[in-house]
Amino acid sequence: MVEYKSIVYEGVIGMKVETLEVIQGDYMLKDYAETAKTFQWKDAEKNFSWFETGKVNMAYEAIDRHVETDRKDKVALFYQDAVRKESYSYTDMKNQSNKAANVFKQYSNLLKGDRLFIFMPKSPELYFGLLGAVKMGVIVGPLFEAFMEGAVYDRLLDSEAKAIVTTPELLNRIPIDKLPNLETVFLVGDSVEETDKYIDFKKALESASTSFDIEWVDKEDGLILHYTSGSTGKPKGILHVHYAMVQHYQSMKWVMDIRDEDIYWCTADPGWVTGTSYGIFGPLLAGATSLVLGGRFSPDAWYSAIEEYKVSVWYSAPTAYRMLMGAGDSIVNQHDLSSLRHVLSVGEPLNPEVIKWGMQVFNKRIHDTWWMTETGAQMICNYGCMPIKPGSMGKPLPGITAAIIDNQGNVVAPYTMGNLVIKKGWPSMMRQIWNNKEKYEASFMNDDWYFSGDSASMDEDGYFWFQGRVDDVIMTSGERVGPFEVESKLLEHPAILEAGVIGKPDPIRGEIIKAFIALNEGYAPSDELKVEIQQFIKKGLSAHAAPREIEFKEKLPKTRSGKIMRRVLKAWELKLPPGDLSTMED
Ligand code: WTA
Repeated sequence: MVEYKSIVYEGVIGMKVETLEVIQGDYMLKDYAETAKTFQWKDAEKNFSWFETGKVNMAYEAIDRHVETDRKDKVALFYQDAVRKESYSYTDMKNQSNKAANVFKQYSNLLKGDRLFIFMPKSPELYFGLLGAVKMGVIVGPLFEAFMEGAVYDRLLDSEAKAIVTTPELLNRIPIDKLPNLETVFLVGDSVEETDKYIDFKKALESASTSFDIEWVDKEDGLILHYTSGSTGKPKGILHVHYAMVQHYQSMKWVMDIRDEDIYWCTADPGWVTGTSYGIFGPLLAGATSLVLGGRFSPDAWYSAIEEYKVSVWYSAPTAYRMLMGAGDSIVNQHDLSSLRHVLSVGEPLNPEVIKWGMQVFNKRIHDTWWMTETGAQMICNYGCMPIKPGSMGKPLPGITAAIIDNQGNVVAPYTMGNLVIKKGWPSMMRQIWNNKEKYEASFMNDDWYFSGDSASMDEDGYFWFQGRVDDVIMTSGERVGPFEVESKLLEHPAILEAGVIGKPDPIRGEIIKAFIALNEGYAPSDELKVEIQQFIKKGLSAHAAPREIEFKEKLPKTRSGKIMRRVLKAWELKLPPGDLSTMED
């Protein structure tokens, strides 16, 4: 049992600071300061078989290795949705991923380094397919099921994907005729019509062999390609390599505090990096038992899952916690949540109110973790052994150097806002932006600091405090949306002349997407048109990219070179001074 006490003291700059101190605890990471001083990533490599054999494959370390130990009959995956309720042991996972790899080998020309995409809702087949592809040395690109044709097309085209695993329901969102490299489509469904190109994945799995010779790769070979948004340009493909496993594993121990007897639940979808790093690789590398819950968010279903599966380590996002908080305490009281031992959060700032609420209803501190698609794994976190200062993201993982620098690259004094940067070279660092060497290189300052795009400050105890993005990236319900992608789609609508998109602060979703729109001649503002435009984005990109608010304007603020000034739109929205307008056209 872990106990906490809350201490409020006067901070250095006169602010009241509250900390949640650990009174008693028994955590994997016992002494943060000492470990941070002495730990080197090389030490963590000893946890892997390739340290001795020299043969590397993430999927081997995640699955097959455990089958050679007492974990062979241990449940790796509990899966539940509205119609299925299944469980798979580590041995089952080995057999199923081997079958998937054999199916890919038999029906496609996929070779090591080729790209296979997975575009479907959560299901056991998603996990088998992803891990089977990794066993072949193939690079996997996971996509949210919510993506519509335009979003799917951009990603498959950029990565020159050769194959995709999807469902018959999603097939009409894949413009196959416009994707010359896409040779094979594996369909997961109950009645699949097969052709040379379309393969019934479930049927093929049934008859496939359970033995497969793993493709051994280099530590630095590609593993997974996650497309994410920046403030400019199309979505960028962030490539991670097999060596990332070192950090996935180590953070599962120190941050997630995972132990053999735990039931672990990461609520994220594998379309998002959290759903692969901590929904698949991390827990399997650690030999843990994971729950995967399909279907939509619902407070009752979520609390019921914790109760039924006796979830002990729970990783979710501020948006979800805020929605649970909004659903009220009476629903909490209908469930026994006493199995929870360790609760964590990622994706957006974790509000102190939410932490307070967590203390009341779960009697647990919620541990914030900060990281990004580009960092591949957790970077700045609140650990079990450490006091939590609500509102702070915590301290860098041992082995990670983080700093706050000004625009000239100088490290700034404590309590000064600046750019949050990470010293280059951590294990799970992105190794490429697909097809975009320039953009990759521009992510690092002097080939030394990785530039996160977040602004933050550090206090005198070394805790980091998040402030916001330095660019225009929007975080809505924990999902990262690039304004450029939405604006480009808006401009395809016949009524729209100009569009500028910003994130507007929202108490539940963090931010919502707001679009400012100037109309072409012959079109008049109306509520019907707003709805039509929202539908246009929902159908063309995805529901989460659709602007919840639309405001029509005669004209939008632009630079003389014609770039929409989102900063000015934001100032309008927040009723703030617009700042320097010297580059604005008349
Ligand atoms: C934001 C992958 C505040 C941040 C996990 C970052 C956070 C972006 C936190 C990455 C946090 C993530 N507190 N902000 N604990 N965690 N962010 O790649 O702006 O989809 O740059 O997340 O999310 O988004 P991504």
